[in-house]
Amino acid sequence: MSGFSAEWLKMREPYDLRARNPRVLDAVIAFLEPLSPTRIVDLACGTGSTLRALGPHLPARQNWKLIDNDLGLLARAKAMPLAKGAAVTPTPLDLNRDLEAALDGPVDLVAASALLDLVSDAWLDRLAVEIAARSIPLYAALSYDGRIEFTPHDPLDAKITAAVNAHQRTDKGFGPALGPAAAAFAIARFEALGYSVVHGPSDWTMRPDDRDMQTEILTGWASAAHDIGALPFADTTAWLARRRQSVAAGHSSLHVGHVDFFATPSALR
Ligand SMILES: C[S@@+](CC[C@H](N)C(=O)[O-])C[C@H]1O[C@@H](n2cnc3c(N)ncnc32)[C@H](O)[C@@H]1O
Repeated sequence: MSGFSAEWLKMREPYDLRARNPRVLDAVIAFLEPLSPTRIVDLACGTGSTLRALGPHLPARQNWKLIDNDLGLLARAKAMPLAKGAAVTPTPLDLNRDLEAALDGPVDLVAASALLDLVSDAWLDRLAVEIAARSIPLYAALSYDGRIEFTPHDPLDAKITAAVNAHQRTDKGFGPALGPAAAAFAIARFEALGYSVVHGPSDWTMRPDDRDMQTEILTGWASAAHDIGALPFADTTAWLARRRQSVAAGHSSLHVGHVDFFATPSALR
């Protein structure tokens, strides 16, 4: 599966849904509750997982502008069944080039999930400045934060984790990515702009039965470690073989750190 394939987004969605931080989600819901219709822009929406996570908790009248540069994912987002009162406008845009166009028009909330760790400090700074200029709140969910816990322990886990985190910082189309530093950088930036920020962990937990998800992730990490070239190829493949064996035997668990936050401008508090 490729980085943003529909199959991968479908596989990760239940883990994302379970992981979303309830305190942060409640703050978003409380903020939007009095607004009808609610106008939300979802940046890098994929197939629409944020709408599926947040939509059922909001007042019925919801207008979602769904932004992505992948037409196949946008088509899937457009085809999803919607609750009565909800409307979606799929909008193809390259957010690196056309971020400002994505934010145009009346907007009550900007949402993004699994996006911030892909972007550079310069792009995130631009996002914060553009959002603050419009006094809009931001709900940013599921930014990977660099923490990985493997069970059982393997002597190469730390080296693989370091390689994965180095790979996370490579360019994903927005300049050198912030990767694990993204959420902390964004929170500090919004606070400096006078925003109040509620944040908390939204970690993935994969139990021994979650074999397919674990296998997919471990294979992706081995590939990232190989791309970075931090370990000899033979070490990476041996690590992956040992890990896959543990998964197949039902002995493997994974914990992957993420952060959610909700940033509100002081004028709206
Ligand atoms: C990790 S996926 C997250 C998708 C969705 N938010 C979710 O949580 O399932 C990252 C998304 O960013 C989109 N993306 C990457 N680069 C982009 C760009 N330059 N402009 C717009 N979307 C982009 C991808 O197409 C993909 O849908």
